[in-house]
Amino acid sequence: MVCLGNICRSPLAEGILEKKINENGLDVSVDSAATSDYHVGDKPDPRSISKAAEYGIDITAQRGRQIQKSDFQEFDRIFVMDTSNYSNTVALTNKIEEIDKVEMILNLITPSSNQSVPDPYFGGEDGFENAYRLLDAACDVIIKQLKDEQS
Ligand code: 4NP
Repeated sequence: MVCLGNICRSPLAEGILEKKINENGLDVSVDSAATSDYHVGDKPDPRSISKAAEYGIDITAQRGRQIQKSDFQEFDRIFVMDTSNYSNTVALTNKIEEIDKVEMILNLITPSSNQSVPDPYFGGEDGFENAYRLLDAACDVIIKQLKDEQS
């Protein structure tokens, strides 16, 4: 799960997917990262921490990190939150099989539309609820795909 700062959207996405993985007894690793180095080592934004907690998810142990080239070998799928994250992430590799791992996360719910999860950082609480709902719906699709793969 990749966003600009790894403190608002991608920590929520990581927490949501992790919870669904556990609830479904799946054996899958999930992590999140930033395209920037602005918040390396930082806890998630307090507004993301409270939004997750509202839904029974604890993301307080997460710490910001920046995506690195080795992530393309480490992970099978890389979900980005917006078009700028997409460009910055694919710019890290020129291997077609690695570029193919990068997906706009909302294409899971609205295929091929390349919609972005709006960045809630500069806005109010509503933005965090909106991000939560979009990411929850997208993570349901990921879980369905994982279950289909593993059955
Ligand atoms: P995120 O939100 O990419 O969802 O973590 C942001 C967090 C921090 C900044 C921008 C967006 N920032 O400019 O510091």
